[in-house]
Parts: sequence; C-alpha cells; structure tokens
Amino acid sequence: DVPELIDTFGRTARDLRVSITEKCSLRCTYCMPAEGLPAIPSARLLTGDEIVRLVGIAVHRLGVREVRFTGGEPLMRRDLEGIVAGCAEHVPGVPLSMTTNAVGLEHRAAALARAGLGRINVSLDTVDRAHFAELTRRDRLGSVLAGIRAAQDAGLAPLKINAVLMQETLSGAVELLQWCIEAGCELRFIEQMPLDADHEWARENMVDAQTLLDVLGARFDLRAIGRDDPSAPAEEWLVDGGPATVGIIASVTRSFCEECDRTRLTAEGTVRSCLFSDREVDLRAALRSGADDEELAQSWRAAMWDKWAGHGINAAGFVPPQRSMGAIGG
Ligand code: GTP
Ligand code: 5AD
Ligand code: SF4
Repeated sequence: DVPELIDTFGRTARDLRVSITEKCSLRCTYCMPAEGLPAIPSARLLTGDEIVRLVGIAVHRLGVREVRFTGGEPLMRRDLEGIVAGCAEHVPGVPLSMTTNAVGLEHRAAALARAGLGRINVSLDTVDRAHFAELTRRDRLGSVLAGIRAAQDAGLAPLKINAVLMQETLSGAVELLQWCIEAGCELRFIEQMPLDADHEWARENMVDAQTLLDVLGARFDLRAIGRDDPSAPAEEWLVDGGPATVGIIASVTRSFCEECDRTRLTAEGTVRSCLFSDREVDLRAALRSGADDEELAQSWRAAMWDKWAGHGINAAGFVPPQRSMGAIGG
C-alpha cells in the first residue's frame, strides 16, 4: 500500500516509461532532423545505477507496476543489459519492456532476455528496403528484420510492431499487415502526433484511423474487439476471423488521455507528466545533491499532481512542446 502517483483529474500512473538516451541509429524524417538531436553532455545523463534507483522508487514508493525503456534508441546505450538486469533484481516481478528500432538487436536480444527483459515493441513503418532507407535516411532494414527474428528466438513475446501512419505507410498498409501476420508479430498503426523535431506536422497531412480502416477493410475482414485494458493506447481488430489482430493508436482523433496511466522519466532525469508537457521536474539534481528516496518520491508525486487533462492537439491555440518524440521516447 503505497501513496500513489495521482493527478488532479483522478488518474493514477502505474506505467513508467524511461528514456535512457536521445541518440538514435536512424533518422526517421517524421522524428529526427538529418543531423540528429544535439548530444546531451554525459554528465547530464542518468547513470545506470541512478536509473535503477529511480525505477525502484517508482515501484516501491509510488505504485508503478510496469516499466518500459525507450530512447531515442535504447540500444544506443552499451549498458542497457546492465540497466535491465539491475531493474530485474531491484524490482522483481515487475514487467520490463522496451520500445526499439531493432537495429543491432540481432546481437543483443538473447542477453537482454537473460537480463530480464520480457517483451519489445519494434518501430517499423515499411518492409520495403528502398522505402525504409528513404524514410529512415539509413539502409538498415536487414538489421531490423534480423533483430526481430532474434528477439522472437529469445522468447521476447508478444512482439509488437509500431508503424506511424503517413501517406506512404497507408499505401503499404496491406503489405505490412500481411508481413506481420506471417512473421507472427502484432501490428499497430499510430496516428502521427505533432512531436516531430522540425515542427512540420500539419493536420491536413495526417492520415487518421478511419482512413486506414477504410483501406484495410477493403482487403481484410475486420472485427472490432476494443482495448486490452481501459488505459491501453491501442484499439484492436480481429483480422479475417483471427487469430491475427491489428491495432490502431488513434492519439489524435480518438484521444485516450482521460484514461492515461503514464509517468515518464527523461534521459536527463526529469519527470515528465505528459508527452506534451514541458513542465518537467528535475530529479537528477536532487538525487546528486543527496536527496533520500522519500524526498525523490515526493518530488515525483508533485510533478504528477500537476499533470494536464490531456494533449490539447485538437484545441484552438495548441502549441507543440519543446521536446520532440526522439527526446521523450514515445
Ligand atoms: P504496449 O504496452 O506494448 O501496448 O505499449 P504501448 O503501445 O503503450 O507503447 P509503445 O512504446 O509501443 O508506444 C506506441 C505509441 O503509442 C507511441 O509511439 C505513441 O505514439 C503512442 N503513445 C504511447 N504512450 C502514449 C501516451 O502516453 N500518450 C499518447 N498520446 N500516445 C502515446
Ligand atoms: N507521433 C506518433 N508516434 C511517433 N513515433 C515517433 N514520432 C511519432 C509521432 N510524431 C513513434 C515511433 C515509435 C514510438 C516510440 O514513437 O515510431 O514507434
Ligand atoms: Fe497521457 Fe499526455 Fe499521452 Fe494524453 S498525451 S495519453 S495525457 S501522456
């Protein structure tokens, strides 16, 4: 019975997302500028031990029940296996997962599974090599597909694939779904949110869930089966009678903020109460000046108490946050 992370709208955060780096091995046009994000000086990055300690506080003092590692790209940190192992030891029984682009995962999937990672979500928008290279500005599709296979061999299951919806994804949607069904991966399409580093998102260009459903519905028999749980971002459809499913994360047109159960830790050690709120609370400074666990927990509670009702993308006068998706980790 721990005093939990509650906000003024009555929501309780139980799902912690930890960004461990802003570096990435790809340069997806909708996420990163071609030159990447400015590097964080290493003294400003949380160390592995600091991450493990903060995850422990979230679980033992704040009621967090699952932990996801994100980036940037979490595989860019060489100490990822150590961080996972440290968390598995410090918060036994808490599901640990990762959202990754799978570049280089081929060589690390088995060790990550041994360290205690339970499952992964892989960001993959297309299985067409030329289109992949164009979109990510890197010719690494082969490494991604090898990473997916290695993860499956290592027992990281269920393996979900995230595809951000764009005109190009829409035209390849049927092919991508067929590929995922054959590969035994759960595909989810994601409405693009105004979190691109270049601030070029425009509602007119956004492909919405309904447009995708019309395209997929012309080729597959889709039956709506709802969400895994009320706070899950994805709504699911059974494909051709099952067992395959396809999901849609319609953050913009069917926002799920009212059921949000997330709290976030940035790579620099700040608590972020919402993807869209730049009002962060710095735990790193407190931690390094000797704060004890309960003091850190109190700061975390205060940060979440301040959480907004939701992203506000659909409201007049919406202004995107400073941090882009690559610096928050999705
Ligand atoms: P699972 O538990 O595996 O289903 O994870 P997930 O879907 O919550 O996590 P994942 O990292 O795969 O996130 C997929 C996408 O969901 C992200 O890229 C975001 O677009 C979206 N998403 C995740 N968390 C949030 C959130 O708190 N708010 C909003 N609006 N979108 C989110
Ligand atoms: N809107 C929605 N999802 C995004 N992602 C990256 N940028 C955006 C955006 N603007 C996705 C990635 C990855 C996850 C962490 O975030 O494709 O799956
Ligand atoms: Fe939660 Fe903010 Fe995401 Fe809405 S946009 S679901 S409030 S983190």
